[in-house]
Amino acid sequence: MRYLFFIFILFLNINLHANEINLFTTRHYESDIELYKKFEKSSGIKVNIVTGASKPLEKRILEEGDSCIGDLLFLADAGRLYSAQEKGLFKKTKSENLEKIIPSQFRSKYWFGITKRARIIYYNPDKTFSEEIENLTYESLADERFYNTIAIRQSNNVYNQSLIASIIENRGAEYTKKWLKKFVNNFSRQPQGNDRAQILSVAANESKFAIANTYYYALMLSGKKGKEQQLAAKKVMPFFPNQKGRGTHMNISGIGILKYSPNKDNAIKFIEFLLTPDAQKHIVSNSYEYPIIEGVKPSKLIQEMGLNFVQDDSTKVSSYGRWQKLAFKLMQEAGWN
Ligand SMILES: [Fe+2]
Repeated sequence: MRYLFFIFILFLNINLHANEINLFTTRHYESDIELYKKFEKSSGIKVNIVTGASKPLEKRILEEGDSCIGDLLFLADAGRLYSAQEKGLFKKTKSENLEKIIPSQFRSKYWFGITKRARIIYYNPDKTFSEEIENLTYESLADERFYNTIAIRQSNNVYNQSLIASIIENRGAEYTKKWLKKFVNNFSRQPQGNDRAQILSVAANESKFAIANTYYYALMLSGKKGKEQQLAAKKVMPFFPNQKGRGTHMNISGIGILKYSPNKDNAIKFIEFLLTPDAQKHIVSNSYEYPIIEGVKPSKLIQEMGLNFVQDDSTKVSSYGRWQKLAFKLMQEAGWN
Protein backbone atom coordinates (compact mmCIF):
# COMPACT_ATOMS: atom_id res chain seq x y z
CA MET A 1 0.00 0.00 0.00
CA ARG A 2 2.81 2.35 0.97
CA TYR A 3 4.54 1.50 -2.27
CA LEU A 4 1.43 2.38 -4.28
CA PHE A 5 1.12 5.64 -2.41
CA PHE A 6 4.73 6.48 -3.32
CA ILE A 7 4.03 5.77 -7.00
CA PHE A 8 0.97 8.01 -6.78
CA ILE A 9 3.00 10.89 -5.28
CA LEU A 10 5.65 10.44 -7.95
CA PHE A 11 2.99 10.62 -10.66
CA LEU A 12 1.48 13.72 -9.10
CA ASN A 13 4.89 15.34 -9.01
CA ILE A 14 5.48 14.68 -12.70
CA ASN A 15 2.11 16.16 -13.47
CA LEU A 16 2.86 19.25 -11.43
CA HIS A 17 5.97 19.79 -13.48
CA ALA A 18 4.31 19.31 -16.83
CA ASN A 19 6.00 21.01 -19.76
CA GLU A 20 3.64 23.93 -20.11
CA ILE A 21 3.01 27.58 -19.37
CA ASN A 22 -0.16 29.32 -18.33
CA LEU A 23 -0.47 32.65 -20.07
CA PHE A 24 -2.89 35.26 -18.68
CA THR A 25 -3.47 37.85 -21.36
CA THR A 26 -5.64 40.84 -22.19
CA ARG A 27 -4.81 40.43 -25.89
CA HIS A 28 -7.40 38.62 -27.92
CA TYR A 29 -6.11 38.29 -31.43
CA GLU A 30 -7.03 35.12 -33.32
CA SER A 31 -3.56 35.35 -34.84
CA ASP A 32 -1.86 35.10 -31.43
CA ILE A 33 -3.09 31.52 -31.17
CA GLU A 34 -1.22 30.58 -34.37
CA LEU A 35 1.89 32.17 -32.93
CA TYR A 36 1.64 30.19 -29.69
CA LYS A 37 1.24 27.00 -31.73
CA LYS A 38 4.60 27.79 -33.36
CA PHE A 39 6.17 28.15 -29.93
CA GLU A 40 4.66 24.82 -28.82
CA LYS A 41 6.11 23.14 -31.87
CA SER A 42 9.62 24.53 -31.53
CA SER A 43 9.91 24.26 -27.73
CA GLY A 44 7.70 21.33 -26.81
CA ILE A 45 6.12 23.59 -24.15
CA LYS A 46 2.33 23.69 -24.19
CA VAL A 47 0.73 27.16 -23.94
CA ASN A 48 -2.52 27.34 -21.94
CA ILE A 49 -4.25 30.66 -22.49
CA VAL A 50 -6.54 32.54 -20.13
CA THR A 51 -7.89 35.74 -21.72
CA GLY A 52 -9.77 38.54 -20.01
CA ALA A 53 -9.77 42.23 -19.19
CA SER A 54 -6.93 43.44 -16.98
CA LYS A 55 -8.98 44.09 -13.82
CA PRO A 56 -10.66 40.65 -13.55
CA LEU A 57 -7.39 38.89 -14.40
CA GLU A 58 -5.53 40.85 -11.72
CA LYS A 59 -8.31 40.14 -9.22
CA ARG A 60 -8.09 36.42 -9.90
CA ILE A 61 -4.31 36.38 -9.54
CA LEU A 62 -4.47 38.27 -6.25
CA GLU A 63 -7.25 36.13 -4.82
CA GLU A 64 -5.62 32.83 -5.75
CA GLY A 65 -2.27 33.89 -4.32
CA ASP A 66 0.33 31.11 -4.23
CA SER A 67 -2.12 28.58 -5.67
CA CYS A 68 -2.52 30.60 -8.89
CA ILE A 69 -1.41 28.55 -11.87
CA GLY A 70 -0.56 31.64 -13.96
CA ASP A 71 3.00 32.04 -15.19
CA LEU A 72 2.74 35.21 -17.25
CA LEU A 73 0.56 38.30 -17.47
CA PHE A 74 0.47 40.16 -20.80
CA LEU A 75 -0.92 43.73 -20.60
CA ALA A 76 -1.19 46.80 -22.83
CA ASP A 77 0.27 50.09 -21.57
CA ALA A 78 3.18 50.64 -19.20
CA GLY A 79 0.76 52.29 -16.78
CA ARG A 80 -1.12 48.99 -16.38
CA LEU A 81 2.10 46.99 -16.07
CA TYR A 82 3.28 49.32 -13.33
CA SER A 83 0.00 49.09 -11.46
CA ALA A 84 0.14 45.25 -11.60
CA GLN A 85 3.73 45.50 -10.33
CA GLU A 86 2.61 47.77 -7.45
CA LYS A 87 -0.03 45.19 -6.46
CA GLY A 88 2.78 42.66 -6.11
CA LEU A 89 1.64 40.47 -9.00
CA PHE A 90 5.00 40.06 -10.69
CA LYS A 91 8.22 38.32 -9.77
CA LYS A 92 11.50 40.20 -10.26
CA THR A 93 13.09 38.64 -13.32
CA LYS A 94 16.75 38.87 -14.22
CA SER A 95 17.63 37.80 -17.74
CA GLU A 96 20.78 39.06 -19.43
CA ASN A 97 19.41 37.87 -22.72
CA LEU A 98 16.20 39.90 -22.42
CA GLU A 99 18.12 42.92 -21.17
CA LYS A 100 20.29 42.76 -24.26
CA ILE A 101 17.31 42.60 -26.62
CA ILE A 102 14.94 45.19 -25.07
CA PRO A 103 16.07 48.83 -24.77
CA SER A 104 16.24 49.80 -21.07
CA GLN A 105 13.52 52.48 -21.26
CA PHE A 106 10.99 49.82 -22.33
CA ARG A 107 11.39 47.37 -19.43
CA SER A 108 11.64 47.23 -15.65
CA LYS A 109 12.85 44.60 -13.18
CA TYR A 110 9.35 43.12 -13.28
CA TRP A 111 8.18 43.31 -16.89
CA PHE A 112 9.39 43.49 -20.47
CA GLY A 113 8.12 45.52 -23.44
CA ILE A 114 7.09 43.31 -26.37
CA THR A 115 5.67 45.90 -28.78
CA LYS A 116 5.51 49.68 -29.02
CA ARG A 117 2.76 52.15 -29.91
CA ALA A 118 2.85 55.93 -30.32
CA ARG A 119 0.14 58.27 -29.03
CA ILE A 120 -0.04 60.98 -31.67
CA ILE A 121 -2.08 63.84 -33.10
CA TYR A 122 -4.43 63.61 -36.12
CA TYR A 123 -5.74 66.52 -38.18
CA ASN A 124 -7.95 67.17 -41.19
CA PRO A 125 -5.65 68.39 -44.01
CA ASP A 126 -8.52 70.30 -45.69
CA LYS A 127 -9.05 72.38 -42.57
CA THR A 128 -5.51 72.80 -41.33
CA PHE A 129 -2.77 75.14 -42.60
CA SER A 130 0.71 73.69 -42.62
CA GLU A 131 1.98 76.60 -40.46
CA GLU A 132 -0.51 75.58 -37.79
CA ILE A 133 1.04 72.19 -37.29
CA GLU A 134 4.66 73.09 -37.93
CA ASN A 135 6.73 71.99 -34.93
CA LEU A 136 3.57 71.00 -33.09
CA THR A 137 4.15 69.54 -29.63
CA TYR A 138 1.83 68.01 -27.04
CA GLU A 139 2.64 71.07 -24.94
CA SER A 140 1.62 73.53 -27.68
CA LEU A 141 -1.89 72.05 -27.85
CA ALA A 142 -2.59 74.24 -24.81
CA ASP A 143 -1.98 77.44 -26.85
CA GLU A 144 -4.88 79.88 -27.05
CA ARG A 145 -4.91 79.63 -30.83
CA PHE A 146 -6.19 76.06 -30.49
CA TYR A 147 -9.30 76.96 -28.49
CA ASN A 148 -12.20 74.54 -29.10
CA THR A 149 -10.18 72.16 -31.34
CA ILE A 150 -9.13 68.98 -29.50
CA ALA A 151 -10.94 65.62 -29.32
CA ILE A 152 -9.58 63.22 -26.73
CA ARG A 153 -11.06 60.43 -24.61
CA GLN A 154 -11.77 60.62 -20.88
CA SER A 155 -9.26 61.07 -18.06
CA ASN A 156 -9.88 57.57 -16.70
CA ASN A 157 -8.21 56.16 -19.81
CA VAL A 158 -4.78 54.71 -19.03
CA TYR A 159 -3.26 55.84 -22.38
CA ASN A 160 -4.10 59.45 -21.51
CA GLN A 161 -2.84 59.06 -17.97
CA SER A 162 0.46 57.75 -19.36
CA LEU A 163 0.71 60.67 -21.79
CA ILE A 164 0.14 63.21 -19.01
CA ALA A 165 2.54 61.29 -16.74
CA SER A 166 5.22 61.68 -19.43
CA ILE A 167 4.67 65.45 -19.31
CA ILE A 168 5.01 65.41 -15.50
CA GLU A 169 8.23 63.40 -15.87
CA ASN A 170 9.69 65.83 -18.41
CA ARG A 171 8.27 69.17 -17.24
CA GLY A 172 7.40 68.70 -13.59
CA ALA A 173 4.09 68.66 -11.73
CA GLU A 174 3.72 72.45 -11.37
CA TYR A 175 4.10 73.04 -15.09
CA THR A 176 1.71 70.16 -15.92
CA LYS A 177 -0.92 71.43 -13.51
CA LYS A 178 -1.00 74.87 -15.16
CA TRP A 179 -0.66 73.41 -18.66
CA LEU A 180 -3.60 71.02 -18.12
CA LYS A 181 -6.00 73.89 -17.33
CA LYS A 182 -5.28 75.49 -20.73
CA PHE A 183 -5.19 72.17 -22.56
CA VAL A 184 -8.58 71.05 -21.21
CA ASN A 185 -9.98 74.49 -22.08
CA ASN A 186 -9.11 73.73 -25.73
CA PHE A 187 -11.26 70.58 -25.92
CA SER A 188 -13.84 70.66 -28.71
CA ARG A 189 -16.37 68.58 -26.77
CA GLN A 190 -16.87 66.61 -23.55
CA PRO A 191 -14.37 63.73 -23.71
CA GLN A 192 -16.15 60.56 -24.80
CA GLY A 193 -15.68 57.36 -26.80
CA ASN A 194 -12.59 55.33 -27.60
CA ASP A 195 -9.51 56.35 -29.62
CA ARG A 196 -11.26 55.70 -32.94
CA ALA A 197 -14.14 57.99 -31.92
CA GLN A 198 -11.65 60.89 -31.66
CA ILE A 199 -10.42 60.33 -35.21
CA LEU A 200 -14.05 60.16 -36.39
CA SER A 201 -14.66 63.54 -34.74
CA VAL A 202 -11.89 65.12 -36.85
CA ALA A 203 -13.17 63.44 -40.02
CA ALA A 204 -16.64 64.85 -39.30
CA ASN A 205 -15.17 68.36 -38.88
CA GLU A 206 -16.38 68.49 -35.31
CA SER A 207 -12.78 68.79 -34.08
CA LYS A 208 -9.57 70.04 -35.61
CA PHE A 209 -7.28 67.65 -33.74
CA ALA A 210 -7.59 64.20 -32.23
CA ILE A 211 -5.24 62.28 -30.00
CA ALA A 212 -5.13 58.52 -30.47
CA ASN A 213 -2.72 55.60 -30.55
CA THR A 214 -1.22 54.77 -33.92
CA TYR A 215 -2.68 51.27 -34.22
CA TYR A 216 -6.27 52.57 -34.03
CA TYR A 217 -5.73 54.72 -37.12
CA ALA A 218 -4.18 51.80 -39.04
CA LEU A 219 -7.01 49.53 -37.90
CA MET A 220 -9.54 51.99 -39.33
CA LEU A 221 -7.59 52.30 -42.60
CA SER A 222 -7.46 48.50 -42.89
CA GLY A 223 -11.24 48.35 -43.31
CA LYS A 224 -11.57 45.82 -40.47
CA LYS A 225 -13.82 48.29 -38.64
CA GLY A 226 -16.06 48.85 -41.67
CA LYS A 227 -16.18 51.06 -44.74
CA GLU A 228 -17.38 54.15 -42.90
CA GLN A 229 -14.42 54.17 -40.51
CA GLN A 230 -12.04 53.46 -43.38
CA LEU A 231 -13.32 56.48 -45.32
CA ALA A 232 -13.13 58.64 -42.20
CA ALA A 233 -9.51 57.64 -41.52
CA LYS A 234 -8.62 58.47 -45.12
CA LYS A 235 -9.80 62.06 -44.54
CA VAL A 236 -7.46 62.44 -41.57
CA MET A 237 -3.67 62.77 -41.42
CA PRO A 238 -1.37 61.53 -38.66
CA PHE A 239 1.12 63.92 -37.09
CA PHE A 240 4.07 62.90 -34.93
CA PRO A 241 4.63 65.66 -32.36
CA ASN A 242 7.71 66.88 -30.45
CA GLN A 243 10.04 66.13 -33.34
CA LYS A 244 12.50 68.86 -32.42
CA GLY A 245 12.51 67.98 -28.75
CA ARG A 246 12.29 64.73 -26.82
CA GLY A 247 10.32 62.95 -29.57
CA THR A 248 6.86 61.41 -29.85
CA HIS A 249 5.32 59.74 -26.79
CA MET A 250 5.88 55.97 -26.97
CA ASN A 251 4.17 53.30 -24.91
CA ILE A 252 4.40 49.52 -24.81
CA SER A 253 2.48 46.33 -24.58
CA GLY A 254 4.42 44.09 -22.24
CA ILE A 255 4.63 40.93 -20.21
CA GLY A 256 5.77 39.96 -16.73
CA ILE A 257 6.33 36.68 -14.89
CA LEU A 258 3.82 36.18 -12.09
CA LYS A 259 5.03 36.00 -8.49
CA TYR A 260 4.02 32.36 -7.93
CA SER A 261 4.74 31.16 -11.47
CA PRO A 262 5.11 27.36 -11.37
CA ASN A 263 6.98 27.27 -14.71
CA LYS A 264 9.38 30.19 -14.53
CA ASP A 265 12.06 28.79 -16.87
CA ASN A 266 9.48 28.01 -19.53
CA ALA A 267 8.02 31.50 -19.06
CA ILE A 268 11.40 33.10 -19.81
CA LYS A 269 11.72 30.90 -22.92
CA PHE A 270 8.30 32.14 -24.03
CA ILE A 271 9.25 35.80 -23.60
CA GLU A 272 12.48 35.17 -25.54
CA PHE A 273 10.39 33.60 -28.28
CA LEU A 274 8.10 36.68 -28.46
CA LEU A 275 11.21 38.76 -29.14
CA THR A 276 12.46 36.69 -32.09
CA PRO A 277 12.17 38.46 -35.47
CA ASP A 278 9.56 35.96 -36.70
CA ALA A 279 7.33 36.36 -33.67
CA GLN A 280 7.72 40.15 -33.67
CA LYS A 281 6.77 40.27 -37.33
CA HIS A 282 3.75 38.09 -36.66
CA ILE A 283 2.53 40.19 -33.74
CA VAL A 284 2.93 43.64 -35.31
CA SER A 285 1.45 42.56 -38.65
CA ASN A 286 -1.79 41.77 -36.85
CA SER A 287 -1.88 44.40 -34.13
CA TYR A 288 -0.50 47.38 -36.12
CA GLU A 289 2.00 48.10 -33.35
CA TYR A 290 5.74 48.75 -33.72
CA PRO A 291 8.24 45.96 -33.04
CA ILE A 292 10.46 46.42 -30.00
CA ILE A 293 13.50 44.89 -31.71
CA GLU A 294 15.49 46.41 -34.57
CA GLY A 295 15.28 45.06 -38.10
CA VAL A 296 11.58 44.09 -38.19
CA LYS A 297 9.16 46.17 -40.24
CA PRO A 298 5.67 46.93 -38.92
CA SER A 299 2.57 46.42 -41.10
CA LYS A 300 2.35 48.25 -44.42
CA LEU A 301 -0.27 50.70 -43.12
CA ILE A 302 2.01 51.66 -40.24
CA GLN A 303 4.99 51.98 -42.60
CA GLU A 304 2.93 54.36 -44.74
CA MET A 305 2.42 56.63 -41.75
CA GLY A 306 6.19 57.11 -41.79
CA LEU A 307 8.86 55.36 -39.78
CA ASN A 308 11.45 58.12 -39.66
CA PHE A 309 9.87 60.07 -36.85
CA VAL A 310 11.81 60.81 -33.65
CA GLN A 311 10.57 58.56 -30.87
CA ASP A 312 10.92 59.62 -27.26
CA ASP A 313 13.63 57.19 -26.25
CA SER A 314 14.83 59.08 -23.20
CA THR A 315 11.71 58.86 -21.02
CA LYS A 316 11.51 55.53 -19.21
CA VAL A 317 8.02 54.08 -19.62
CA SER A 318 8.06 53.01 -15.96
CA SER A 319 7.76 56.71 -15.11
CA TYR A 320 4.24 56.63 -16.62
CA GLY A 321 3.17 54.30 -13.84
CA ARG A 322 4.99 56.25 -11.18
CA TRP A 323 3.12 59.47 -12.06
CA GLN A 324 -0.17 57.81 -13.05
CA LYS A 325 -2.13 58.67 -9.88
CA LEU A 326 -0.88 62.26 -9.80
CA ALA A 327 -1.63 62.61 -13.52
CA PHE A 328 -5.21 61.44 -13.00
CA LYS A 329 -5.68 63.78 -10.03
CA LEU A 330 -4.37 66.80 -11.97
CA MET A 331 -6.48 65.87 -15.01
CA GLN A 332 -9.63 65.78 -12.91
CA GLU A 333 -8.74 69.01 -11.11
CA ALA A 334 -8.39 70.66 -14.52
CA GLY A 335 -11.98 69.62 -15.34
CA TRP A 336 -11.12 66.70 -17.63
CA ASN A 337 -14.06 64.33 -17.14
FE1 LIG B 1 -5.97 50.01 -27.26
